[in-house]
Amino acid sequence: MKHHSIIELIERKRDGGVLLSDELQWIIAEYTADRLPDYQMSSLLMAIFINGFTGEELGPWTEAMLRSGDVLDLAHIAAPKIDKHSTGGVGDKISVPLAPMVAACGISVPMMSGRGLGHTGGTLDKLESIPGFRTRLDGDEFVAIVEKHGLVLGGQSETMAPADRRIYALRDSTGTVPSLPLIASSIMSKKLAEGINGLVLDVKTGSGAFMKDEPSARLLAETMVGIGASHGTKVVATLTGMDQPLGVAVGNANEIDESLDVLAGGGPADVVELTYSLGADMLTLGGIEDTREAALARLRKAVESGAAMERFQEVIAAQDGNPDVAGNRSLLPTAPLRYELTAPDTGFVTKCDARDIGVAGVRLGAGRERKEDDVDHGVSISVLAKVGAAVDKGDVLAVVDYRDQDRMDAARPLLERAWEVGGAADEPELIIGHIA
Ligand code: URA
Repeated sequence: MKHHSIIELIERKRDGGVLLSDELQWIIAEYTADRLPDYQMSSLLMAIFINGFTGEELGPWTEAMLRSGDVLDLAHIAAPKIDKHSTGGVGDKISVPLAPMVAACGISVPMMSGRGLGHTGGTLDKLESIPGFRTRLDGDEFVAIVEKHGLVLGGQSETMAPADRRIYALRDSTGTVPSLPLIASSIMSKKLAEGINGLVLDVKTGSGAFMKDEPSARLLAETMVGIGASHGTKVVATLTGMDQPLGVAVGNANEIDESLDVLAGGGPADVVELTYSLGADMLTLGGIEDTREAALARLRKAVESGAAMERFQEVIAAQDGNPDVAGNRSLLPTAPLRYELTAPDTGFVTKCDARDIGVAGVRLGAGRERKEDDVDHGVSISVLAKVGAAVDKGDVLAVVDYRDQDRMDAARPLLERAWEVGGAADEPELIIGHIA
């Protein structure tokens, strides 16, 4: 590959210029091979963050990230291979109940998830709160588990989309996460490396999303659907609201607890609605059912018969976790101290801010402030009153289980300002639109 001057490329991007396909490929190859230091990559990422990418830049950048490692070949698996990915939210545990539900309906799900990013949670961190559960799987093991169980829930192995894994961690600590081209290329490179036939995307908009306003979230969704099309992979996206957290549980172990509720036929209404809606997309995309109605009925049956829960337990065991967690939730870690946030007035909840609650979760230890930080799986926030709820002065709005008083002191002001109580407010829309 022809050599380039990285300083010249950074300067050109900084000044609003365009990088060429072979230059973009060279940058990704050099960074993956450890020949480009983090500080130069960070500087370039900030220039991309500020100036964006043209369509001519985004394609080769994403393709280079996808080709930075192994691309799985799952052609020998007869079942339709469909995955789901969310652009990231607060309390967004949907992948956890969704993947076993659709696997129990005949979809093969080679799910490669991420860790918490900024104020948002990550599926891998949540899954690791199940005692023993191992998300670090090498390529062969990842394939063997999905072959046998129709489902695998792993992290990015060293060899799959390594450029994304490293760039993702770097963005998290350099203020370069909420960028349309960087999010689109990150998600699509790792998902297309899974060797899937189709992908269902949940694109968030609102205070707790990276794309706060609806037009940018829609553009992100359209961009990712377009990347899929030019790669020959069917991609559909749902635009969903993230002004307030999803469900009750925000944290890690408590989100697994809530996911198990959904698999057992319960769970908060919003989590259930979105899980089934995305599940119907996966089943129709995979050709298991022709209509959403039939897909929804099949998903309900998988839950009611216990097949979805059994599939989750099977995969937990295959990944060295303790499957008894399904029936014995006390196996999940908890935190010993409790704080209750109460309503300052009587009225209706008019704000329950996803971002503030997400940042409060990070301060409690549920997420990372630095990329080397460990996550505390036991700390939890239970969001008891959402927008539109009627509350009396003194009612509990949120319950926080924490471990460290200093961390609680740092989180409290954010929780206090996250809620507002006033005149009547409508429940916000959860599912805003579909893009295909
Ligand atoms: N999820 C990802 O996988 N990557 C991003 O950049 C943002 C959300």
